[in-house]
Amino acid sequence: MMSDKLVVVVTRKLPPAVEERLSRDYEPRFNADDRQYSTKELIDLAQGAYAILPCHTEKLTADVISRLPVSVKAIVNFSVGVDHVDLAAAKACNIIVTNTPDVLADATAEIAMLLILGAARRAGEGERLIRAGKWESWSPTFMIGRQVTGKRLGIVGMGRVGQVTARRARGFDMTVLYSNRNRLAREQEQGAKYYESVEEMLPHCDYLALHCPATPETRNLLNAERIALLPDGAIVVNTARGSVIDDEALVAALKSGKIAAAGLDVFNGEPNNIHPGYRELENTFLLPHIGSATFETRDAMGYRALDNLDAIAAGREPRDRVA
Ligand code: DGY
Repeated sequence: MMSDKLVVVVTRKLPPAVEERLSRDYEPRFNADDRQYSTKELIDLAQGAYAILPCHTEKLTADVISRLPVSVKAIVNFSVGVDHVDLAAAKACNIIVTNTPDVLADATAEIAMLLILGAARRAGEGERLIRAGKWESWSPTFMIGRQVTGKRLGIVGMGRVGQVTARRARGFDMTVLYSNRNRLAREQEQGAKYYESVEEMLPHCDYLALHCPATPETRNLLNAERIALLPDGAIVVNTARGSVIDDEALVAALKSGKIAAAGLDVFNGEPNNIHPGYRELENTFLLPHIGSATFETRDAMGYRALDNLDAIAAGREPRDRVA
């Protein structure tokens, strides 16, 4: 017997509770092998589907969207970032697009702090040393890093993640500076100093955390010119998207010591085509895009995506519509 449930293409393996809810309420087409679909596979799987539930790993370009069957009415992302979806193309095809804001902020800010601490205190280098069996002595000048406590942290993009990172950083007595499209209300600022432009803020940052969305405007935001504005020996961390950094410029600055260290969770060309300089340098602390990777957050992202899907299927406006 044919099911009267709406068909949903689920591009990657989701947490068990989220998959259970999908199976209860929809007819999901799961990706049992959890491998990256080719464009053709995705389009074939979408035949007769009402919605696609993708992650940032699926590139839904204008070309892909134009080839989706007309049955597809919604793209409910399992992500806050939507740079992998051509929103204008989706709109032109009357496909509603949603994301999963708010629920990632705590987990991602934890990773931002981990990157700050790991890069500043040479955690990657120390770990590699021990694992390689090369830790042979201790002395007062061994593996000296940079202190985090009491330093100035500049945040680019003071959205939800940026604001939580600011709160956590205050726990380390950091002074928070920020640059954002709009100045926050005073109670949200919590004493953080606002700069109208990134350029004005950079000379005052001992640490720089990138939390802005990936858009054409933020592409290569951290380039050679802006790196030159940072104090010598500044530390850079990125949990946003690889595209906000000009890799050649950052690698050169890490080699010269202009930037003392970088903590990176996201990369251009991830997962397997990242700039080789990052792997070769000792002063990088690298994580594989795990900003939101906690049990709590991945469940919450799934539920939020399904809440959006439920609303669209019921003819209501979804909470997190981005197109
Ligand atoms: C997001 O939600 O944008 C995270 O980067 C994981 O995809």
